[in-house]
Amino acid sequence: MPGGCGAVGPPPHRTMKLTLRIVATLILIIATVAFVFTWTQVRTEQSRLLQELERRSELLSDSLQPYISALHQNSDPATLTNLAEKFSGRERLAGIALIAPDGNILEISRALVEHWGLPDRGQAVPETTSGSFRAGSGRLHVRTVPLVYLGIEDHRLQVYHSVAFIEERARRIWQQNFLRVFVQALAIALATLLVVYLNVMYPMRRATNWVRRIRMGDARLEPDRRDDHLLGPLVREVRKMASSLESARLAAEEEARLRLQSESLWTAERLKEFVRIRLAGRPIFVISNREPYVHSRKGKGIEWIKPASGLVTAIEPILKACGGTWVAQGSGDADRQTVDENDRLRVPPEEPQYTLRRVWLAKEEEDGFYYGFSNEGLWPLCHVAHTRPMFRESDWLDYEAVNRKFADALLQEMADTTEPFVLVQDYHFALLPRMIKQKRPDARIAIFWHIPWPNPESFGICPWQKEILDGMLGADLIGFHTQFHCNNFMETVDRALESRIDYEHFTVLRQGQTTSVKPFPISISFTEERPADGPVAPADVLKPHGVEAEMIGLGVDRLDYTKGILERFRAVETFLERNPRYEGKFTFVQIGAPSRSLIPRYQEFESDVQREAERINAKYKQKRWKPIVLLIRHHSQEEILPYYRAADVCLVTSLHDGMNLVAKEYVASRNDDKGVLVLSQFTGASRELLDSIVVNPYDISQLADAIRTAVEMPEAERTRRMREMRAVVRERNIYRWAADLIGDLSRIRLDEPVTPP
Ligand code: G6P
Repeated sequence: MPGGCGAVGPPPHRTMKLTLRIVATLILIIATVAFVFTWTQVRTEQSRLLQELERRSELLSDSLQPYISALHQNSDPATLTNLAEKFSGRERLAGIALIAPDGNILEISRALVEHWGLPDRGQAVPETTSGSFRAGSGRLHVRTVPLVYLGIEDHRLQVYHSVAFIEERARRIWQQNFLRVFVQALAIALATLLVVYLNVMYPMRRATNWVRRIRMGDARLEPDRRDDHLLGPLVREVRKMASSLESARLAAEEEARLRLQSESLWTAERLKEFVRIRLAGRPIFVISNREPYVHSRKGKGIEWIKPASGLVTAIEPILKACGGTWVAQGSGDADRQTVDENDRLRVPPEEPQYTLRRVWLAKEEEDGFYYGFSNEGLWPLCHVAHTRPMFRESDWLDYEAVNRKFADALLQEMADTTEPFVLVQDYHFALLPRMIKQKRPDARIAIFWHIPWPNPESFGICPWQKEILDGMLGADLIGFHTQFHCNNFMETVDRALESRIDYEHFTVLRQGQTTSVKPFPISISFTEERPADGPVAPADVLKPHGVEAEMIGLGVDRLDYTKGILERFRAVETFLERNPRYEGKFTFVQIGAPSRSLIPRYQEFESDVQREAERINAKYKQKRWKPIVLLIRHHSQEEILPYYRAADVCLVTSLHDGMNLVAKEYVASRNDDKGVLVLSQFTGASRELLDSIVVNPYDISQLADAIRTAVEMPEAERTRRMREMRAVVRERNIYRWAADLIGDLSRIRLDEPVTPP
C-alpha cells in the first residue's frame, strides 16, 4: 500500500506549544520590567517616608526642648515621666527618652520598654543613636538630639518612631503591583492568543488548505482575499507556482497520453527548443516567392492581408515559433512604404516575431519569372491537370535571373552567419540551391517542393529539365509531400542526368555532392482552442447572401483550374438531380480567392466558374434559395472559419494537389467533431486523412453520391471519422513537419569544406 500523509499544517499541540512559548516570554519580560519598576518605587517611597519621619522627629524634638529644659530645672522626674508617656503611641511615635550625661536613661516612655524591649531608666541607651534598627518584633527609627536649651547640652533627647507603616506601605506597593502585573499578563496572554489565532493561525490554516488543494490539482482555487495583508507576497508566489504546477501537470498528462500512443506531440514551444539546440542559436532563412504579408493602399491608409497560399499557411507558424528571416517578393502596392532602408520589416505586423526581407521585381521580370515560367510552365507541368504547359525562352531567362536576384539577397542576409540553415520553398526557385551552394558550401540547404512531381515522361517535355534538376540537386535535402512524388523525382533524375542514384538511401550523388530525397507531408498548426468556438448554423453564414437552406456544402480554394471547382459544381447539380428532396435545403458555398489573374488560362477559368454557377443556379433557383453561392474575393482566415464550422460537408476535389491544406484546416476547425470531408484521391492529404470520403473528382457521378453519403451519414459515424482525422492532423502538425525537415537537414554531413568564402 502506498504510504501517505494527510496532515494539514503543524499538529495542534505544536502550535499550542509555540503560542505558550510566545506568551511565557511576554509574561517574563513584563514581570521583569514590573519587578524593576516596583523595586525602584518601593525604594523611593521608603526613603521619602523616612525623610518625612526624620522631619517629624526633628520638629518634635525642637518643640520638646523648652519643656524638657524647664522640667529638668524643676527636677521633677514625675512630670518628665508624664511628658514621656504623653508622647508615646501618637502618630506613629513610639516614645521618647531622656539621656543623662553619663549615657544612662534618665526617663523613657513605658511603651518603649514594655512593647519594644528597650532598656529602662538607669540603664545604658541602645547603640543606635540615629536611623532605624530592629527592636522587639519590629523596627524603630530613632533620632537623638542634644538638649541645648539653657545650656544643658550634656543631656540628650531621643525620639523613637515605629517604621512598621513604611514596611506596610512597601508591602502594599509590592502587592498592588503584583496584582496589576498579574491582571496585565493575563490580558496580554489572552490578547496574544486571540491575535495569533485570528491573524496568523487561522489565515495560515486557510492558506495551508488552499496550498494543499492546489497540490491536489485544484489550481483554479483562489486564496481568501482577507489573508492578503498577511500572505500577500506569498500568495502571489504560490499562485505563480500553482500555475506552473498546473502547466507541468497538463504537459505531463499530455506527454503520458502521447507516450501511450507512442507518439509525442510537437508544439511551437517544443519546435523552438528543438531548433535552438539543433541550430545552436543560428537563425533560419526561408525563401519563397509569395510573401506572408502584403501591404496595399486603401484610401489614404495602408492595410495588410495574408495571401491565400498553402505555403504561407504552413511556413509562417515555424517562423513565428523560431524567428529568422523570410526572403520573398514584395508584391503589394504599399510594400515599399512599409520596409526600412534594407528592405526589411518585422512581422507579423500586430506582434513582430521574425524579419521579412522583400525583393523587388520589375514588371517584366515578374511576367517572365512568375506568370510565365513558374505558373504557365512548371505549374501545369507538375500538376498534369490537362492544361498545356507553355515554355518560352524569355520566361526561362527571367526565371534564371530572378533566381539569381533572390540568391544575392539571401547571400547578403546570411553573410554574418556560419553554416546557415536555408529552407527554399517551391517551384519558383529550382535553381537557387545550386547558386547558394556554389557561394556558400557551408550552408545547409533544403528545398521543399509544395506541388506534385510528375512522372519522368511528363516532366521530360520541359526544355530545361536538366538545369532544373541540377539546380535542385545543389540542395542537401529535397522534400516532397509524398513518397510517390519522391519516386517520380528520382526516376526523372535517373533519366535526365549523369548521377549516381542510391534507391536504398534515396540519395543522388552528382558532381561530388550528395542530396537526400524524402517525403515530408506538410500540415498546419493544429490548435485545440480555435476562435469562434460556438456552433455556427447555416443561417448564420447564408443570411448575408439572402439565401435560406438547412444544409451547407463548402469549397475553399484559389481560383485555379487544378482545384476541380467545375467538377464540384457539376456534382452538386447531379446530386440535386438524383435527390430532388434536397432542393431548397442544400446550398453549396464556394469561396474563391482570385489568383494569378494576369494569366489568360486563369481569366478563362474564373469566367468558366462564374458561368457554371449561374447556369446551375438558373436551373434550380427558388425565391429564397439557390444551389450555389459563389464568393469571389479574398477572405481572411477569420472570415472563412464560420463557413468551415457551418459546413455539413467540405468538398476538396483537386484534380491534382501536392497536399491541400484546406482539407486539414476544415478538420482542425471542427472541434465539435461534426462535418464530413469529401477528398480527392489526387491530393497528398488523401494519404493521411483516411476517414474522409475519398473520391475521383473526374467521376462526377461518384462525387454526387459522395455528397449524398456525407449529408446522410449517421451522426455516430460522422463523429467517429472526424475524431480520427482530427487526431491525425493534431499529431502530424506543421511543427512536426518542420522538426523532421530541420532535424534531417542538421544531421546531413556536408561534403564540401565547412568554411565561408
Ligand atoms: C501553391 C504553391 C505556393 C503558392 C500558392 C499560392 O500552394 O505551392 O507556392 O504560393 O499556391 O499561389 P500564388 O501564385 O498566389 O503564390
